[in-house]
This record gives sequence, structure tokens and C-alpha cells, in this order.
Amino acid sequence: MESKFDEIIDRTNQLDIKWGQSEKVFGSTDVLPMWIADMDFASPKPVLDALKSLLDSRILGYTAPPDSLYQAIIDWQKERHHMELTKEAILFSPGVVPSIALIIQTFTKENEAIMIHDPVYTPFSNMITLNHRRCVRSTLIVEQNQFKMDFIEMEKQMVEQQVKLFILCNPQNPGGRVWSKEELIQLAELCKKHQILIISDEIHGDLIFQPYQLASLVTLDSSYQEFVITLSAATKTFNLAGIKTSMIYVQNKFLADQLKSAQAKTEQSNLTTFGYIGTEAALTKCGPWLTDLLQYLSENLEIICAFFDKELPDVAYMKPQGTYLFWFDCSSLNMTDAELAAHFATVGKIGLNAGAAYGPAGSQYMRLNFAAPKSLINEGLNRIKAAFENR
Ligand SMILES: Cc1ncc(COP(=O)(O)O)c(C=O)c1O
Repeated sequence: MESKFDEIIDRTNQLDIKWGQSEKVFGSTDVLPMWIADMDFASPKPVLDALKSLLDSRILGYTAPPDSLYQAIIDWQKERHHMELTKEAILFSPGVVPSIALIIQTFTKENEAIMIHDPVYTPFSNMITLNHRRCVRSTLIVEQNQFKMDFIEMEKQMVEQQVKLFILCNPQNPGGRVWSKEELIQLAELCKKHQILIISDEIHGDLIFQPYQLASLVTLDSSYQEFVITLSAATKTFNLAGIKTSMIYVQNKFLADQLKSAQAKTEQSNLTTFGYIGTEAALTKCGPWLTDLLQYLSENLEIICAFFDKELPDVAYMKPQGTYLFWFDCSSLNMTDAELAAHFATVGKIGLNAGAAYGPAGSQYMRLNFAAPKSLINEGLNRIKAAFENR
């Protein structure tokens, strides 16, 4: 049956990072771009309609977030993630990555240690090192083709390196793990014991496949509100990255006041009108769109897994429990990481993210973004197969 997500929309303009910059990123314009984490699907109609009516009003003056937006966020987080928020606990920020930078700058000092998992979303380590903090990586264990946390090693490093902040990615990018309640509690208890603040980046938290469920870290015990700051956005869920709007949820008043005063120093909390309007429309009117999206993404995932099982049976992969990212092992190609990245672009003619960028433990992996129409997924899979077959 035809789906609205089957439509191919031309994205080949130079503003578009994913489709417009292949020459710069991959050295050629004939790659099929399946890398950076946005989707090749039209944003939901209610969001587009809301933005159109803003334009129809013909006034693009200064704006402030309305109470209705706060309420939309409070309702979404309560209904979807059992999180209790008040207006005072919600801060706006132009992005999750800028929020991470702000929290690092506000709550840690130069040379202090910040822990992340390895591999993990590349900007975590970038924000740590660009802000002259020490990046301590805790390597994830791979068990039955899924990531697991190594709590013993984590605690050892927390103590030895005097870690001050932990940046968690849940669900995990690049492996798609939706961390279990038990794992999250074990992590939070370790951080509590060693007085480590936690950032829980839950930007992919609405993109979860059955039967998994996001356990939002701060909801697992009321004491976690004292040291967990949650980052979220409607931009990943509803494909709105260009509106540059995200939220920081911080229930501890002392932490919230510190962040508000840090934001005040740079006026960072004043966002675009498009961001406020787009976020509110997404959270209030696009629940059904999200249901359809998850159905389509899970079909794509089944297609990909079936293809790998049949056509590339020796290639190990992680079946994601959430996100639209597919992480697979390319060590059978016997190449260096630099060679691998070039090989997929030049021989496979497919633009993927190179695993090594996610940390040393990402070496020999590639990451495929499967938020694309099925026809592109099928084309991408054939190109991946060609890359494996044409050594
Ligand atoms: C885990 C994670 N955090 C943050 C971001 C980006 O967030 P933002 O665009 O709000 O800075 C991404 C985008 O891929 C991501 O995967």
C-alpha cells in the first residue's frame, strides 16, 4: 500500500547538508546520501500549516514562547514519558548540542573529567574537548549484537579520573539501544554515589520500536531530579532540525537558576518564532503522524535486516530498538577506517557515517540512516552490497 513516506522529495539544494553537500563531504555528487540524522520525509502537515499561517500574518517581529507551548511540552512529557514538569523546569535552547555545551560550561571547569560511552554521537566528545575538559570514554560491551554498559570499568574510571559529569545518550546513537530501567538505575546510582551530574540526551526518545519503551532517566526515582538534566526536542521526532529549537528539563531549582543565568549572559534562550510555533504544532497535533512514521520505519528496518541476513550473512549488525540508525560491522572488508569510508563513497556510491568518528570503539563500523522512502532504502542496500562485493 502507498504511504505518504514513499514520496521522494528533491533535497538537492546547497542549503541542505545531507543532499546538497555530497561533493564536499564524500568527494562526489553521485553518492546516495544516507548519513546525517534527519529524515527524507516531509515534515508533518500541521507543522507546515502552522508555519504558513505565521507567514500569512506577514509580521515576523520579536516573539516569546507562549504558555500554550509550555503546556504542550508538559502534556507531551507526562503522557509519553511519565515526566512531571512545571513551566519553571523548562528552558529553551537552539539545540541539544548547544545545551550540552552550556551545561559543560556552567557546571564544570577546564581540565575536569567528563564521561561518555564509546562509541557515541560525535558532538559529545567535540563539546568536551573544544571546551578544554577531559573526555573519559567508557567502552560499551557488545553482547549478542547489542551494546551493554560496563559498570565495573565505568566506576573505576569515575573514581580514578574524578569524573564530574556524565553525558548519556538514550536511546543510544549509533547503536539504537533503548537502555533498560535496570541499567539506567545502576548508572544513576553510580553517579549519585560519586556526585556526578548527568545529562540525559533523549532527543531520539520518541523514536522507539515495539516492544521497547523509553525509560526517561529522571523519572526512575524522585531523587534523580537533583542531578539529572534531560535534553529533548521535537526536531528529531518530527523532522524539523532546521527550526533549531530544543528543550532543557531541569527540575532542581539550583541547577535551573544557574543555567538560566548562564543563558542570560548570551541571550541564548531567545529562539526563533518558527521554533516556538513548529514545536507547539508538532507536540499538539502530530501524534498520529508519529504513529505512522514508526510503522514505516519499522518496516524499513525489517527490510534492511532481511537483506543483510540473506545477501550479507557474514556482516554483523545491531538491530536498533529505537532511532532510525543502523550500525553494521565492516571489518570483513579488511580496510583501515579511512579506506572504509572512502570505499563506501567511491565504490558503493553511498554516503554513510564512518563509525570511527563515534570514538575508538566505532572503528570498522558504518552507520546507515534508514529514515528514507523504501525505494531509496532498497537502492542503498544494493549499493552497500556492491561495496562488500567489490573489494
Ligand atoms: C544523540 C543526539 N543528540 C543531539 C543531536 C542534535 O541535536 P540538535 O540538532 O538539537 O543540536 C543529534 C542529532 O543527530 C543526536 O543524534
